[in-house]
Amino acid sequence: MERSKSVRVSSAPEKDFLPLYGTDHIEFYVGNARQAAHYYITAFGFRGIAYAGPETGIRDRASYVLRQNKLTFVFSTSLRPGTPIAEHVARHGDGVKAIALIVDDAEHAWNETTRRGALSYQQPEIVSDESGELGISGIRLYGETVHLFIDRKGYKGLFMPGFKEWDPGFESSDTGLHYVDHCVGNVGWNQMNKWVSFYENVMGFKNILTFDDEDISTEYSALMSKVMSNGNGYVKFPINEPAEGKKKSQVEEYLEFYEGEGVQHVALASNDIVKTVTQLMQRGVEFLRVPEAYYEGLEERVGKLEEKMQPLRKLGILVDRDPEGYLLQIFTKPVQDRPTVFFEIIQRKGAKSFGKGNFKALFEAMEKEQEKRGNL
Ligand code: FE2
Repeated sequence: MERSKSVRVSSAPEKDFLPLYGTDHIEFYVGNARQAAHYYITAFGFRGIAYAGPETGIRDRASYVLRQNKLTFVFSTSLRPGTPIAEHVARHGDGVKAIALIVDDAEHAWNETTRRGALSYQQPEIVSDESGELGISGIRLYGETVHLFIDRKGYKGLFMPGFKEWDPGFESSDTGLHYVDHCVGNVGWNQMNKWVSFYENVMGFKNILTFDDEDISTEYSALMSKVMSNGNGYVKFPINEPAEGKKKSQVEEYLEFYEGEGVQHVALASNDIVKTVTQLMQRGVEFLRVPEAYYEGLEERVGKLEEKMQPLRKLGILVDRDPEGYLLQIFTKPVQDRPTVFFEIIQRKGAKSFGKGNFKALFEAMEKEQEKRGNL
């Protein structure tokens, strides 16, 4: 039988040249790492686990490693002026320096990405101590932000060679935060597509969602956003850029106060957002609040929820639904004096989206805060 000419030969699935297994850690450069560590332990429920600084033979900085379930945060500060950390903090204030990703082979990840156009931040290196060997490398991202690639299969220590076990001498209980759901970057005017191409071409990611300024526009604030995801969906990076609005948008406010591009928010996943947010609020974490009117007719808008409406309303938790399910989310106020980095707490009940239905209410709440700061 003659073979039809229109038969399409489906090609074998493309091999992922950069397999990623999630977020290894996030490193923040801050003005006072000791106090930042205390805040994240007491308010967010992290545990102090490792430390590097003068006591461990490091002369120019101090770093504190905190953990909660699969979340690892590192807070680093400079001990003297003129160092890269000091310059970073002077320019940006407290912020995210590194989003470290788990790979099989840090050298392979660096080779594949730099070959495709990434700029090197850290040459591949194997670091070792009595707990084994750890592979590390890094590439540059928007602004002064970087991605580190970490291979810790051969390492049994608490964090990394160079760090020693650290017991801060006090504990606070876990608040039920588990892992990084996504991490959002703010980039400059007309820079979104450049970074979308970077994630596509250099990292092998796909654009899974796009929001234009029609979707994300309030009376004043406008922005555009594209969500980039790696092959297995473990790592997602939405990229925002400002759009023309009546007044200064939240992304412009960020760019002005961060003195450039950087991480806007890190979304932390909870399995019980009501419990998590209740705990965080009791410990002094401040959240953005949407007007009461948001809750009128909410169930008609998003359908039946497993959660009771009263606690969601009391805490100010937002809900959105997509074809696969729903999600619950809430946003903190900026966690430092500059109106820059903040956190999202998110619980997914099937939904794989990012809360588009909440953008209007949320951005109006953000604009209220911007107005109080005199930045609208
Ligand atoms: Fe988010």
